[in-house]
Amino acid sequence: MSRAREWGRAIPPRRVDLSVRIGSLELRNPVLTASGTFGYGDEYAHVVDLRRLGGIVTKTVTVRPRPGNAPTRIAETAGGMLNSIGLENVGLARFRSEKLPRLAELKATVIASVGGETEDELAELLEALGAEPGVAAFEINFSCPNVAAGGARYWASPSRLEATMRRLRPLSPRPLIAKLSPDVTDIRDTARACEAGGADALTAVNTFVGMSIDLDRMRSRLGRATGGLSGPAIKPLALARCHEAAHAVGIPVIGSGGVAGGRDALEFIAAGAAAVQIGTATFVEPGVAARVVDEMREWLASHGIARVADFRGTFAAPAAQGCAPADARELAEDRP
Ligand SMILES: Cc1cc2nc3c(=O)[nH]c(=O)nc-3n(C[C@H](O)[C@H](O)[C@H](O)COP(=O)(O)O)c2cc1C
Repeated sequence: MSRAREWGRAIPPRRVDLSVRIGSLELRNPVLTASGTFGYGDEYAHVVDLRRLGGIVTKTVTVRPRPGNAPTRIAETAGGMLNSIGLENVGLARFRSEKLPRLAELKATVIASVGGETEDELAELLEALGAEPGVAAFEINFSCPNVAAGGARYWASPSRLEATMRRLRPLSPRPLIAKLSPDVTDIRDTARACEAGGADALTAVNTFVGMSIDLDRMRSRLGRATGGLSGPAIKPLALARCHEAAHAVGIPVIGSGGVAGGRDALEFIAAGAAAVQIGTATFVEPGVAARVVDEMREWLASHGIARVADFRGTFAAPAAQGCAPADARELAEDRP
């Protein structure tokens, strides 16, 4: 009998407690919208009651407004999409004066995503926004693959991540969530570095660097040679990275990559995530995040699981499978 079928007798869906904690932040459920895929949140308020979601992660904001990359910025791929938006955003001043007050009216739980080319820029953002009452937590985007400076490659260094987290941590009383790139040798190293520097939680993962070539014109299908791959195509990759990160640190990990339904979300929770984010699926179905909340509740109820928090990390990897390939490396290192 499968493990899932051993849980117990079905209970009414309304009895399922979906609340989760991310550091000092209490979320009503584990479903968040992913940065850059839900605008600043208010654009979707006519489609989804934002109070039904665990929270929304806003588009990454930088100190100065950014126009983003030249077109073409989006290309479809098998099972996913490539984007090269390049952190287009309204900048700190407008984010604070226009976007945050609107989100406060809508009573959404707001996680503000901040990005910067340098540690100084991130510090400037947290000094300005750190105590904003309308922001419940910050997600620090250490992982954008689409910008020349301050992108995922710059933040792939564990020592740089740790030093930056140490500098940022005292600048806000709110939880700080470090968003990691999957394109590193071993995500456990970057995960542990952020934890050591004082991160309260991690998001695993951002998009994977990908490419698509139009052979007839011998040109990239994007304005740049590469972009970030997201959507169903990356779910197994993201799930594995999330599982590795969650087992490497003691802080909560938020899963991101290819979630499009309640069962996808629960796979991430079983793998060790405390919560999930939904990105690309929103472009296909704007109200998907609310549906995922309902589907998670239904599945847990039908398996007699009264608290989603109890479901976290319930997937036990078969010992022989472990968290390869990193485990294979460890075994090799252990050899005399
Ligand atoms: C069009 C687009 C724009 C994005 N912009 C951002 C961004 O500004 N900041 C960020 O941290 N992640 C950004 N992401 C990454 C998503 O937040 C998410 O981590 C990634 O797409 C994987 O999840 P998904 O497969 O559910 O889309 C963007 C993704 C897409 C598709």
